Amino acid sequence: MFLLHQKTAVVTGGGSGIGKEVCIVLAKQGAKVYVVDLSEQSANETVDIIKKEGGEGKSIVIDVTNQKALMAAYNSIEAIHILVNCAGISHIGNATSTEEQDFEKLFNVNVKGVYNSLHAAIPIMQKTGGGAIVNISSIVAKVGVSDRFAYGMSKGAVHAMTLSVAKDYIKDNIRCNSISPGRVHTPFVDGFLKKNYPGKEAEMFDKLSKTQPIGRMGKPIEIAHQVLYLCSDEASFITGSDYAIDGGYVTLNS
Ligand SMILES: NC(=O)c1ccc[n+]([C@@H]2O[C@H](COP(=O)([O-])OP(=O)(O)OC[C@H]3O[C@@H](n4cnc5c(N)ncnc54)[C@H](O)[C@@H]3O)[C@@H](O)[C@H]2O)c1
Repeated sequence: MFLLHQKTAVVTGGGSGIGKEVCIVLAKQGAKVYVVDLSEQSANETVDIIKKEGGEGKSIVIDVTNQKALMAAYNSIEAIHILVNCAGISHIGNATSTEEQDFEKLFNVNVKGVYNSLHAAIPIMQKTGGGAIVNISSIVAKVGVSDRFAYGMSKGAVHAMTLSVAKDYIKDNIRCNSISPGRVHTPFVDGFLKKNYPGKEAEMFDKLSKTQPIGRMGKPIEIAHQVLYLCSDEASFITGSDYAIDGGYVTLNS
């Protein structure tokens, strides 16, 4: 089950955290994985791990906000069976404290970046004969979380784009789903704590961990396994769905 031999996968944000683990897991299952990331060093590190474990990987160093460059890079890939849109950034602020440039930055990376990736990959997936897309959304698209105005906007858009793509390309044998993780311990969270709660990182880490009824943050591998399932032929009846993977955050916090 869940084997991906003869399949090619493209994973944005593959240099760190959830995306990195997704790349490693998909490669372990037999997929050839294109690791797309802004950071050359991180992308190469992921490819090195894949190769060390006997898999096949290649890095694409690119900013997902750059449509022209992304199109050119994806067009050099012959077939795309799997696309995972994971690249994303965070922001803290409410509607009044969020500055215009921060709102635009979140939109550009988390919304336009996903659009660019879909725009570039779908025609190749159509030629490939179909495929599976997984977009990484967040619990903030489902419940109100304090001070996540711009971030929530971006993840709500990811959810909506998922439904649109699932509907429009069902005839092309393309499935599209999203995952809404709760807090997952990655460099994303560590960077966020360092930037927004300097000196109080440990205290805030503990607080954020406990907001999951299960009592801890998720692990990137736990998200990667869900992505693997949704990308595999075993999930062939699933499209247009969003999966909470959040230690009970959305359904059990009262
Ligand atoms: N960690 C969490 O708690 C959590 C929870 C819910 C959703 N998410 C989402 O999961 C995704 C991955 O998060 P993570 O925690 O693994 O983050 P991370 O910061 O560890 O990794 C994100 C990767 O994306 C890359 N990236 C950022 N901007 C880019 C750009 N413009 N072009 C190309 N690459 C770019 C970074 O270089 C980095 O390697 C994000 O979309 C995030 O919003 C994370």
